[in-house]
Parts: sequence; C-alpha cells; structure tokens
Amino acid sequence: MTKPAVLAAAPFPPFTMQPLEAAFAVHRLWDGLDDAAAGSIRALATNTLFGRLGAEVMNRLPALEIIANFGVGYDNIDVAAAASRGVMVTNTPGVLDEEVADLTLGLLLSTIRRLPQAERHLRAGLWEQGAFPLSPTLRGRRVGILGLGAIGKAVARRLEGFGVAIAYHGRTRQEGVAYPWYPTALALAEAVDVLVVVVPGGAATAGLVDAAVLRALGPQGVLINVSRGSVVDEVALIAALQQGTILAAGLDVFTREPHVPADLVAQDNAVLLPHVGSGSVATRTAMGQLMIDNLSAWFATGRALTPVAETRHLQR
Ligand code: NAP
Ligand code: 8YV
Repeated sequence: MTKPAVLAAAPFPPFTMQPLEAAFAVHRLWDGLDDAAAGSIRALATNTLFGRLGAEVMNRLPALEIIANFGVGYDNIDVAAAASRGVMVTNTPGVLDEEVADLTLGLLLSTIRRLPQAERHLRAGLWEQGAFPLSPTLRGRRVGILGLGAIGKAVARRLEGFGVAIAYHGRTRQEGVAYPWYPTALALAEAVDVLVVVVPGGAATAGLVDAAVLRALGPQGVLINVSRGSVVDEVALIAALQQGTILAAGLDVFTREPHVPADLVAQDNAVLLPHVGSGSVATRTAMGQLMIDNLSAWFATGRALTPVAETRHLQR
C-alpha cells in the first residue's frame, strides 16, 4: 500500500524522524519541494523551530488534510487559515505537563536562590576569596499562576509541597479550584510577589505581562515565563530588571528565539534558558510519538487523537 506523503517542515530529532519515515513517505521542506511533490502532500509535520506556518505554505499544498504539531503550544500555526481550508490541526497535550512543571520549579528556585550565579562564583574560583552573597527566599511568598491549565496545575501541585500561597488568573474562574482567582493579570500581579506565566501564546495574550503588571509585582517581585516570549513585553521587562522595578526574572522563552537581546543577557538578576521546558529525551520522544500517532489515526480512521479546539469539528 502507498504510504501517505508527509511534509516535514523542519528537522525532528532522529528518534522522531525514524518512525515518521517508517510510517510515511516523508518529504523534507528544507531540501526543497517541487510542484509535483507539493501536490501529493496530505500532511504537514511541524514545530516551533519552523517559525510561523501560515496560509502561504498551505496554499502550496492542495491535498493537505492535517497539520501535526510537535508541541502543545500551536501559536506557530495559523489555525484559522487551516480551519477555513478544512485542515485538521493536532498538538501534543498530556505528555509533557510534568516535565515542563519540573523545569518551571527548577527555574523558579534558580532565580530566587540565584543558583546559576552561585555556581559561576565557585567555578570562577571566587569562593576562596569570599562566600557567595546571601540570596532572597521563596519562604513566605505568594505565587500567582497566569494560566492555570494542564501545565499550570502541575506547577501548582508542586508548589503546594513548597508551602507557599497560590493564586491564579485565567479568563474564567474554574469550578472546583480552591486557589483565589483574580479577574485580570494586573489584579493577580498586585496580589502576589511571584508570577509564573503559563498561558498559550498568540494574539490574545500578546503583551499580557506589560510594564504595569511588572510595576504591580513590585521591587521584590519575580517573573517566571515558560509560556511564549510574546506574552511578556520584553523591552518593558529589560527596563524593569535594569531599574529594580522587579527583583528578578527566570525565562525559558523569548520574543525572537533563538535570539536573546544582549541587554537581557547582561542582567545578573535574570536566569535564562534556551527553551528547554520539555527538553528531555523521554519527553521529546513521547511528543514525537504522539505527533506520529495523530497522523496514523487520521489516515486510518479520519479521526485525530488530540485535535486542537479550533479544528475539532473536522473529526470525521
Ligand atoms: P492549557 O492546558 O491550554 O492551559 C492554558 C491556560 O491558559 C488555561 O488555563 C486558560 O484558562 C489560560 N488562558 C488561555 N488564554 C488566556 C488568556 N487570553 N488570558 C488569560 N488566560 C488564558 O495549556 P498548557 O498545556 O498548560 O500549555 C500552556 C502553554 O505553555 C502552551 O500553549 C505553550 O505555549 C507553553 N509551553 C511551553 C513549553 C516550554 O518548553 N517552555 C512547553 C510546553 C508548553 P482560561 O481558558 O480559563 O482562560
Ligand atoms: C517544545 C513547547 O520546545 O510544547 C510546546 O509548546 O514549547 C515545547 O515543548 C517545542 O514545541 C518544540 O518545537
């Protein structure tokens, strides 16, 4: 039987590329795609590395039925353009929540207790000259979670073990959640001194954490962002770190990845990670497998395993 033609928009790790190529006739966009091959493509496999996947790519693929994303966030895909063409979009929920939450707690502790700075002090041989300065503390803090979804809840479960107060903001108050809810990001920031950002990216959340939210967080405030760089006004954040408007920031995501502004890199009160929230071999393997399983299910049954909300109506 002929294997369905799948276009890989950007390279995947070998542990994903191999099963993808075993199941499908894979074309690699970075090798070029002539019109005959483009006409045969029934599926696109993509990830945030590819950048924005918009209508211009979909327009080249008249037989496109499904876009499978390697990642839970899908702000990299123009889902409205996909839905209007009847193209299913899938993502990878459920297989990375705990991994990203682990990383978030690591980043939070690193930022408040200044672990990377302390390690740099030791490696530079400075301990022999004097002790590393005492750090701020997580003790007694109130932590606000901006986006209490699958990952936000996994973060909250961990924070309960740390004995800190928890509050949240989302567009709606959630039934059965005991943490206090605040109706805006600003109101949440006024009520807490740590803000953990885990909302999806995209137009609806662009610049949600702006200068006013950072001011509200206050001079002892700590910002942790593991969602998307677009959610935080990066220029306002750099100014807030330079001027002491907030105490510190821990960031896994940036506005224009992989570029990180030099002014941010220069800040000693920022801990910066290269978008590694889900970046373990085990979790990336599970994400790749779910992406492939979505494609297999779609071609076998006309139903995807984890369709995004905007294209769920396209299940056959
Ligand atoms: P999720 O389960 O869909 O949760 C998202 C939460 O954000 C929901 O509670 C939602 O609540 C809230 N929300 C959505 N739109 C909002 C808005 N406009 N204003 C305020 N709150 C809003 O998503 P998830 O699986 O937890 O993932 C969250 C995001 O994390 C992903 O989209 C991705 O960008 C990012 N992520 C990053 C990494 C990494 O490596 N750093 C890894 C995985 C995911 P309401 O609907 O009530 O508003
Ligand atoms: C990945 C992510 O780094 O799932 C997401 O939304 O941001 C991360 O898990 C990314 O999708 C890999 O392309």
